[in-house]
Amino acid sequence: MVPGQVASISESIIKHVIEFKPFLMAQTVALYLPVDNEVDTSPLLNHHKILEKKLCLPVVRPENKLGFSQFKPGDSLQSGVYGILEPCNKDWLDIGSIDMFLLPLVGFDAQGTRLGYGGGYYDRALSHCKKNAKKPIVVGLAFQFQEVAQLPCADHDVPLHYIVTENGVRSFL
Ligand SMILES: Nc1ncnc2c1ncn2[C@@H]1O[C@H](COP(=O)(O)OP(=O)(O)OP(=O)(O)O)[C@@H](O)[C@H]1O
Ligand SMILES: [Mg+2]
Repeated sequence: MVPGQVASISESIIKHVIEFKPFLMAQTVALYLPVDNEVDTSPLLNHHKILEKKLCLPVVRPENKLGFSQFKPGDSLQSGVYGILEPCNKDWLDIGSIDMFLLPLVGFDAQGTRLGYGGGYYDRALSHCKKNAKKPIVVGLAFQFQEVAQLPCADHDVPLHYIVTENGVRSFL
């Protein structure tokens, strides 16, 4: 994909996110800042004033654990592990207070299995999540071409509840 395509398709994906009822209901939402050609979340940050949500971003902590700290557009960022930008603010949120996680991914399948970069960061961070619990809601953001027929799913892989692509929202619940 060329950069212009990433930006324009990301805009359509984020448009679906901000019309998605569980997203509108969520008070605290964890998102990510994209690297390479991941779905670009910046259109969401541009809407943050009207959305009135507490947003937070992941930070890689010692022992490769993910922490989440609050982020308001305009706050300072610094480059963390893998060059991913993270908030300078390190006031860790209780992970149990996060209503919805928006996750980047490399691939997904029709069962809601997610393939990440192989570090297991989100799988470890979300290992307490139960698929049928109301909270947190785990949502993958992807371009439709990232769907593959079937991914291997290990016990530690945290399943997605929903995926949002340029074609809309799909539920795996
Ligand atoms: N809940 C867990 N407890 C302990 N180790 C885990 C857990 N989840 C994942 N891991 C470790 O992380 C490794 C990588 O996991 P996996 O291949 O699923 O990564 P991924 O989902 O692609 O990565 P990411 O979540 O960072 O995008 C696993 O082989 C395992 O050793
Ligand atoms: Mg995994």
